[in-house]
Amino acid sequence: MTLDDLKEQIKNISENYKDEPIAGWITGDGPSPCSILFVGEAPGKTEVETGKPFVGLAGKTFEKYLNTVGLCRKNVRITNTCFFRPVKLKIGNNNKTTVSNRAPKVSEINLFREVLDQEINIVNPKLIITLGNTPLKRLTNFNSIGECHGKLIFNDHIGRYIFPMYHPSALTYNRNDEFLKMYENDWVNLKNELSGYV
Ligand code: URA
Repeated sequence: MTLDDLKEQIKNISENYKDEPIAGWITGDGPSPCSILFVGEAPGKTEVETGKPFVGLAGKTFEKYLNTVGLCRKNVRITNTCFFRPVKLKIGNNNKTTVSNRAPKVSEINLFREVLDQEINIVNPKLIITLGNTPLKRLTNFNSIGECHGKLIFNDHIGRYIFPMYHPSALTYNRNDEFLKMYENDWVNLKNELSGYV
């Protein structure tokens, strides 16, 4: 199995999916093998347009913090839990359709179980950083990011270390100093843990 095989699988799954509206798909991005693997939720509009994960608004926040811990995009791998862009369509009074992002359904995440598992095998990271609840629930038995963020946890099921973090877009929904402090502190914790991994 190679990353090209995974691309083919993602393409097939996405092109044959007819249950709910979707708008394009992407693969993971970055070196392989790689010590550090970030796993997000699903791509949005900008990601599908450019073919890369985390390049839109959330991506800008993500990259800013990534740089603060001495990492940059070219030395980490970034991927998603759902590889197509889940959308909802709304037809307005003027008959114009508006397209907006929606969270992936569990059934949609399950379509990509094997793809993500295989990507983890191929990339063979020493540390997986989950961004938000979607990858956390997919890869661990935790129910919520609130109970485990900012800590290094060994995951018996996949036999690898996981460091759960909030999704960068959580900063947009939680506009208060307390949350910001906690979020920034998680990155400091990550920086401390990274010294053993990079
Ligand atoms: N949010 C995600 O979870 N993944 C992306 O690739 C972009 C935004």
